[in-house]
Amino acid sequence: MTKALEGIRVLDMTHVQSGPSATQILAWFGADVIKVEVPGRGDITRQQLRDIPDVDSLYFTMLNGNKRSLTLNNKAEQGKEIFTKLIEACDVMVENFAPGALDRMGFTWERIQEINPRMIYASVKGFGPGAYENCKVYENVAQCTGGSASTTGFDSGPPTVTAAQIGDSGSGIHLVAGILAALLQREKSGRGQRVEVAMQDAVLNLCRVKLRDQQRLRHGPLKEYPQYPNGTFGEAVPRAGHASGGGQPGHVLECAPGGPNDYIYVIIQPQGWATLMKVIGREDLVDHPDWATPEGRLPHLETCFHLIEGWTVTKTKSEVMEILNAHEIPCGPVLSMKELAEDPSLRATGAVVEVEHPARGSYLTVGNPIKLSDSPTEVERSPLLGEHTAEILRELGYSDSDIATAQEGGVI
Ligand SMILES: CC(C)(COP(=O)(O)OP(=O)(O)OC[C@H]1O[C@@H](n2cnc3c(N)ncnc32)[C@H](O)[C@@H]1OP(=O)(O)O)[C@@H](O)C(=O)NCCC(=O)NCCS
Repeated sequence: MTKALEGIRVLDMTHVQSGPSATQILAWFGADVIKVEVPGRGDITRQQLRDIPDVDSLYFTMLNGNKRSLTLNNKAEQGKEIFTKLIEACDVMVENFAPGALDRMGFTWERIQEINPRMIYASVKGFGPGAYENCKVYENVAQCTGGSASTTGFDSGPPTVTAAQIGDSGSGIHLVAGILAALLQREKSGRGQRVEVAMQDAVLNLCRVKLRDQQRLRHGPLKEYPQYPNGTFGEAVPRAGHASGGGQPGHVLECAPGGPNDYIYVIIQPQGWATLMKVIGREDLVDHPDWATPEGRLPHLETCFHLIEGWTVTKTKSEVMEILNAHEIPCGPVLSMKELAEDPSLRATGAVVEVEHPARGSYLTVGNPIKLSDSPTEVERSPLLGEHTAEILRELGYSDSDIATAQEGGVI
């Protein structure tokens, strides 16, 4: 079966997480992703957070599956010549270096267009044009500057970063959308174009419900927030604890036996109120004027969830999940990474995949969460550093003696 992006060649100049997460998706869709890495060292993450000495870290292996690795010193003269040939041969180029790094190598957008006018040149940077455009940015900086940290956590605590890598992998997903749109437009225009994603913008896009709340705040307190009715609201959207960002209130509730992840998130839909009260043994609240309607519940939402928690603590999270789902009450257990790693249903769907690596043995990685019926993803291991250098250079027309010379000169 052919793959959706078969025939598309990607010049992958990415490192760390944001860029690699984008080219990872392109590779899963069947593009030939050529990861260009500094000779002798490679992507810095190969060595970061290592669990086994001298073996590519899981940080690297879990972001770079299905790709080919080519080592190339882009700053050497012959390296620039090889890189020029790669630009000629590829459809998409992706990079997430610090601002200006590719320009300093001599490959400005104008130069890239001269070499290959059909090239789609995609970049992730920390910020868009403006005061901060030259800053280097990592995940948590983006979470802080994109509105996530100020709105995450509890009122009583400091701004909090979230484990979900919304700055890095979140930007990567945005970049993929731009690359695919540009490929589609190239079908009609015949021209490539630049695709740019600023991590701050990507995080803000993912936090748009909080920008919504900032505007709602002008018209009074945010009644679904834990600060209502007894706390105070300042001029900015406060941290909402467990409150849902949507229109239906929800909360994390404790379950038995009381371990660190024995919790379940329960949402109260208006139509589910009566059933929920019957399940927890509070039929008296089904039609009670202070409780029966969403508006009536708003002034005492915390008490409301506390009542439900009085029932959830008597059951395990799996029992609560089973009972409430049988009544169509939306809820979901808090699952630990251990539980997710061991969950047979996630293995069955390919959400979690085990792959073999020549140096580390088998490891777990995530599968492609985007399913295409005509382009199924087969998750493959990440490449060793420079594993495909000679193979790719031969494809570009270099002879074995050219390759040997480049190797001797430290170019590859
Ligand atoms: C992530 C980040 C902070 C890392 O910074 P860093 O480790 O200092 O690395 P840089 O991006 O500054 O650049 C690496 C250097 O290696 C060089 N380099 C990279 N690949 C090379 C190659 N194949 N051959 C020769 N040199 C190479 C670059 O040219 C650059 O050199 P220069 O500074 O002399 O121009 C920075 O890349 C960044 O801000 N990126 C944009 C935002 C982003 O994606 N952040 C999230 C990362 S998950």
